[in-house]
Amino acid sequence: MKKEVNPSFLYGVSVEGDNFTDRTQETRRLKLNFENGLNVILISPRRMGKTSLVKHVMQVVDKDIVHPVYMDIYDCRSEYDFYNKFAETILKQTSSKIEILMENVRRFLARVSPKISMSPDSITDYSITLGITPKEYSPEEVLSLPEQIAKQMGKHIVVCIDEFQQLAEWPDSLQVQKRMRGVWQHQQHVSYCLFGSRQHMMNQLFQDKRMPFYQFGEPNYLQDISTDDWIPFIQSKFEKKGLHINSNFVQQICDTVENQSSYVQQLSWNVMLNTENEVAEETIEMGISDLLMQCTPLFMEQTGSLTSYQMNLLRAIVDGQHTHWSSQEVLTKYNLGTKSNVAKMQKVLMERDFIVSTEQGLFLSDPVMGLWFKKKA
Ligand SMILES: Nc1ncnc2c1ncn2[C@@H]1O[C@H](COP(=O)(O)OP(=O)(O)OP(=O)(O)O)[C@@H](O)[C@H]1O
Ligand SMILES: [Mg+2]
Repeated sequence: MKKEVNPSFLYGVSVEGDNFTDRTQETRRLKLNFENGLNVILISPRRMGKTSLVKHVMQVVDKDIVHPVYMDIYDCRSEYDFYNKFAETILKQTSSKIEILMENVRRFLARVSPKISMSPDSITDYSITLGITPKEYSPEEVLSLPEQIAKQMGKHIVVCIDEFQQLAEWPDSLQVQKRMRGVWQHQQHVSYCLFGSRQHMMNQLFQDKRMPFYQFGEPNYLQDISTDDWIPFIQSKFEKKGLHINSNFVQQICDTVENQSSYVQQLSWNVMLNTENEVAEETIEMGISDLLMQCTPLFMEQTGSLTSYQMNLLRAIVDGQHTHWSSQEVLTKYNLGTKSNVAKMQKVLMERDFIVSTEQGLFLSDPVMGLWFKKKA
């Protein structure tokens, strides 16, 4: 009999099924948006669960009216890189068989000769390379592909694009964004769900009035999963292994990592590995200490390129300083240089997603990095 690996906790990859807590409200909202043809922008700090949520919604939408497709454009380096991935994904995910896909290529993209490679593991799995260049098709023609296919299918297509912020790094990005929006906003049978892991870049693309994608869709800020939702989720995972964790300890896990989804699962796993029968205070401490050890190489690499002033600013935040950045006392206490220096540092640290600015002031984006700083101090 085939043995299945069934991890108790999973982190760092998108999750589904047993590893996915309900997110009932968010799912309902996104599902309705998808089914009603609204464009959606999904923004959150890192590893909160955007990809998992979108994939979950794609599974539960009413397939009689909506046909969702998903693509991750992290490795697209230019406009035409994207157009190829865009067209390939849409063709592939709207065709149940290769024959249908080839028929659609002939109908909508007759000027390219696609290459199909079959997967060695499965007769139904294959990949397609279209090789579209500006000679064959203009951007507008490629961008209108989902609309044409949607009309043919008699269904609404929802195109979900992950790591969307990457397009800000392409040559001529602004021009490309204008083209995309220009075509997409007139489509009647297609809507878009755009999201990505770099919160600051996503904010810039969608919140700045001067940017083409400003107000393109309904902005959704994905909140953390509440401790009340984590308690039954985590307790049941422990129970399945014949172990027990008191809800106070789950609360402590959530508090330690400020409910950041991926860390909640990672820390829970660390705690489980240290548990024999029942979770105790020391088990939690061991789990936290393992978590810090696991994160240290990454944090060292991330902070390695920072100046000592920038490090001081992060330390000040960790120390509980969130506002009053122009006070001389604060500048001196934390050795931050001049007022204008602080303003510049804030900008850089925000652009690199080290910190976020909220109504309550500046905070570290990564709660575990905060713990790491405290431990080092
Ligand atoms: N609904 C959920 N239930 C339980 N755990 C979740 C859920 N959503 C996310 N997680 C946890 O967070 C991790 C990251 O999830 P996911 O990749 O979906 O987040 P993301 O916001 O897309 O991350 P990134 O910012 O890196 O793109 C998962 O591996 C899982 O541990
Ligand atoms: Mg993601």
